[in-house]
Amino acid sequence: MHADLAAAVEALFPSIQAELEALVRIPSVSAAGYDAAQVRRSAEASADLLRRHGFEGVRMLELPGAHPAVYGEIAGPPGAPTVLLYAHHDVQPPGPDSEWDHAPFEPIVRHGRLLGRGSSDDKCGVVTHAAVARLLGPKPPVNLKVFVEGEEEVGSTHLAQLIATHGALLAADVIVIADSGNWRVGVPALTTSLRGIISAFVEVRVLESGVHSGQFGGAIPDALTILTRVLAALHDADGNVAIPGLVSGETDPLDLTEEELRSQAGVLPGVDLIGTGSLTSRLWTRPAAAVLAIDAPPVAEAINQLIPRARAKVSVRLAPGDSPQRAMQSLVSYLESRPAWGAQVTVTPYESGEPFRLGGGDPRHEAFRTGFAEAWGRPAVDIGVGGSIPFVAAFSAAYPDAAIVLTGAADPECKAHGPNESIDLDELRRFILAEAIALRELAK
Ligand code: BES
Ligand code: MN
Repeated sequence: MHADLAAAVEALFPSIQAELEALVRIPSVSAAGYDAAQVRRSAEASADLLRRHGFEGVRMLELPGAHPAVYGEIAGPPGAPTVLLYAHHDVQPPGPDSEWDHAPFEPIVRHGRLLGRGSSDDKCGVVTHAAVARLLGPKPPVNLKVFVEGEEEVGSTHLAQLIATHGALLAADVIVIADSGNWRVGVPALTTSLRGIISAFVEVRVLESGVHSGQFGGAIPDALTILTRVLAALHDADGNVAIPGLVSGETDPLDLTEEELRSQAGVLPGVDLIGTGSLTSRLWTRPAAAVLAIDAPPVAEAINQLIPRARAKVSVRLAPGDSPQRAMQSLVSYLESRPAWGAQVTVTPYESGEPFRLGGGDPRHEAFRTGFAEAWGRPAVDIGVGGSIPFVAAFSAAYPDAAIVLTGAADPECKAHGPNESIDLDELRRFILAEAIALRELAK
């Protein structure tokens, strides 16, 4: 059907891979405390790439205090639908180098996968949109817009303001968000739901300052013990989230087995899975709570001392349909009212991002199903996702008539946010082909 596109992707792929490697070499960590100049460099590199492959009017979208986003467009035939292609060029911090098999920003190829921070989340999305523009040429069948954000990994803090400032620029009939992934390597998927997210700091204060643990221990508690008791209340004995009032739903189990999930995540032998309900429900349509970090003395610096204060960052994923505002209130009052031997427990809200669920049956999704089916040689399955892309709800509210397509080249073995993040190069090739075919189909 689209053999010309398939052949063109094949021929271009070595240069596409080189483009991805060049982007991965830029450590564009958007988190506070990292060099913002690197995020600007990756915005400029993304802009160059888009320009080279035919986007016009390519420019930075800037707001005070925000990492730059990149915008560009290519006009299609008059009356053709307008498609906004989204990806993000910022990445999560790499974590300790010692956890990686190679330097996180020096990509290598192993077993058909390109490894490096941002390879799957989400620099593959940036090169995909550039490649698709190149494939479709200077007269694409639809009006193309591209928007490459620089703050997705810190919760898209300025996206509402960007939409408010550049609303008309970003308006489209179809919004293609290339920041999700497929069911497994070789099995394409369309994402139909995302979890929301809230996070908060939990602080326990017990003493004016540290005191001798022998002199006072036994009569006076330490802050770390109290903090762990408070944090233990996040789950019930089965491992379900115990915060009251959160939305929880069931979903199609598909064919995910416990064995496959264990292998995808690299769970050590003997460790139980937590929660109840089908695995996909636990991952997509039920809440999940995790302790992300604790401020406490490192073991190597331990003193025989009662710790005066301790602090943790807690993250809760929210099921589609839940409200981050309501969930945050519930989290704060639940943790602050845990028994804590009278210690002061303060919960301070931090991030919050909306969940999302796609309304079914939009005919504009069929173009993507066609693209997936052709590129992979098998039909796409509908999946939920346990991760969050908080701005999707904002986009959908700002452009209620636009069809939202949640898609991407990633797979469950990508290790996004972890050491040795990677993208499967065959999957990326198929994804580029699928997006190009879909845009042609959309014009029909
Ligand atoms: N690409 C992910 C979302 C995702 C995760 C899609 C897993 C498919 C599978 C996205 O870049 C992401 O990581 N989002 C953050 C949002 C947060 C910073 C508010 C997340 O989920 O932690
Ligand atoms: Mn991410």
